[in-house]
Amino acid sequence: MSPTSFILVAIDGGAASGKSSTARALSERFHLLHADTGSYYRALSARLLHSGVSPAAPAAVRAELTDLHLGTHCSGRHAQLTIGGDPVPEADLRSDAVNAAVSHFAALPEVRAALLPYQRGLADLARTHGFQGLVMEGRDIGSVIFPHADLRIFLHADPAERARRRAREGQLDAVAERDRLDSSRENSPMTCPAGAVAIDTSHLALPAVVERIAALITSRLLGG
Ligand code: DC
Repeated sequence: MSPTSFILVAIDGGAASGKSSTARALSERFHLLHADTGSYYRALSARLLHSGVSPAAPAAVRAELTDLHLGTHCSGRHAQLTIGGDPVPEADLRSDAVNAAVSHFAALPEVRAALLPYQRGLADLARTHGFQGLVMEGRDIGSVIFPHADLRIFLHADPAERARRRAREGQLDAVAERDRLDSSRENSPMTCPAGAVAIDTSHLALPAVVERIAALITSRLLGG
């Protein structure tokens, strides 16, 4: 393989599998733009809930999404979604109401279609902003958004450990139930993409996970 100057890294995995911490560390190490697509689904969910729209009413969801102007605020290496020019506050993204509703909104084709071109466009944004690449984390990044990413990673961990991680973050989040919904939906279900490197993070500390992926990135950048 010839050396690449821009690297596209897709990281998928369930709730609290360690995706965000891993992606953040890699973005710093290699100067990659970092896109946490779960936060994009959360931002749209917060906006829809704020407007009184339920996931049980797809026509109302479609109508509400039609006029939303999606943009990006780059905060350091982090690509934050803006709606109508404004980022959604972190506290709103992680609220109990959003935790409970986000998987239901994310299962709707209307919501996924609204985010698909936005997410793909972040690769160009990373290039034009001079980043060495893009690390995007989510559930369908290696399978649907960037099936030809240079590197596709799937992180998993046992449910009890993931529930402990969320509890340590002070969050009430039914990770197993969200994973069940995210894996069983018809549209872009969470899956380990063919050809992805799967890593079990249950008993691996973050630095070890980061080192393992960093070695793969270095090898791709050098053309291995
Ligand atoms: O990563 P997270 O827990 O913040 O994700 C929140 C929800 O968003 C998750 O329940 C499923 C959904 N999601 C998705 O369907 N596709 C993605 N690429 C990322 C997240």
